[in-house]
Amino acid sequence: MMENRIDHYIESLIKTREPLFAEMEAFAREHRVPIMEPAGIEALLQIMRIQQPKRILEIGTAIGYSALRMAAALPDAEVVSIERDEQRYRQAMSYIGRSEYGSRVEVLFGDALELVDKAGEKGPYDAIFIDAAKGQYTKFFERYSACLTAEGTAYTDNVLFKGYVAGVPAESKRIINLVKKIQSYNEWLMNHPDFDTALFPVGDGLAVSRKRGGK
Ligand SMILES: C[S@@+](CC[C@H](N)C(=O)[O-])C[C@H]1O[C@@H](n2cnc3c(N)ncnc32)[C@H](O)[C@@H]1O
Repeated sequence: MMENRIDHYIESLIKTREPLFAEMEAFAREHRVPIMEPAGIEALLQIMRIQQPKRILEIGTAIGYSALRMAAALPDAEVVSIERDEQRYRQAMSYIGRSEYGSRVEVLFGDALELVDKAGEKGPYDAIFIDAAKGQYTKFFERYSACLTAEGTAYTDNVLFKGYVAGVPAESKRIINLVKKIQSYNEWLMNHPDFDTALFPVGDGLAVSRKRGGK
């Protein structure tokens, strides 16, 4: 988190979530599943409440937390989400089965880079939320932005990666490598001719990229 005090302050003001979401948050903490941070997801949901997407594609389901939160915040929306880790996929299916919003969430099991056709058939999507392997963001965006509607919006989490991209010293080679990839994704995205993008320093950093459309 790049602005700890500010994020903690925002978090202190966010209402407690309903019981199933609170249970999922506790599960994620206990099992170290990296679900979206509270301030980050609230910001994402709020922008989506304004955008009102009807179909959303998520890359990176984990245990289904953000997928269910999106379905809860947007009563008219259907969410398709992709997860490649079998244990997380099963856990997501179990939570989705228990949730009152679960009937509007479908999870595809597999690698998002291999499921472009299958996920594409279920589109087009008004919104795409990229929250999977950070080193692959450019590939995810390139392959999936074709599934967006004319003025659809792509959201990307972790684009400020704990501040490393802005010069916070990284501890390992692995992190340094990832930082380079995210920096180059951010530069590429900000210069993409078909999208207007803004980077928001909330949670771990959220990019909002709106397709320019055919006007
Ligand atoms: C940060 S977590 C997703 C958190 C979730 N969006 C939330 O906030 O509740 C990232 C997930 O993406 C999955 N993942 C990473 N690369 C993937 C890929 N290429 N295809 C499908 N899933 C992927 C990981 O297994 C992991 O569970």
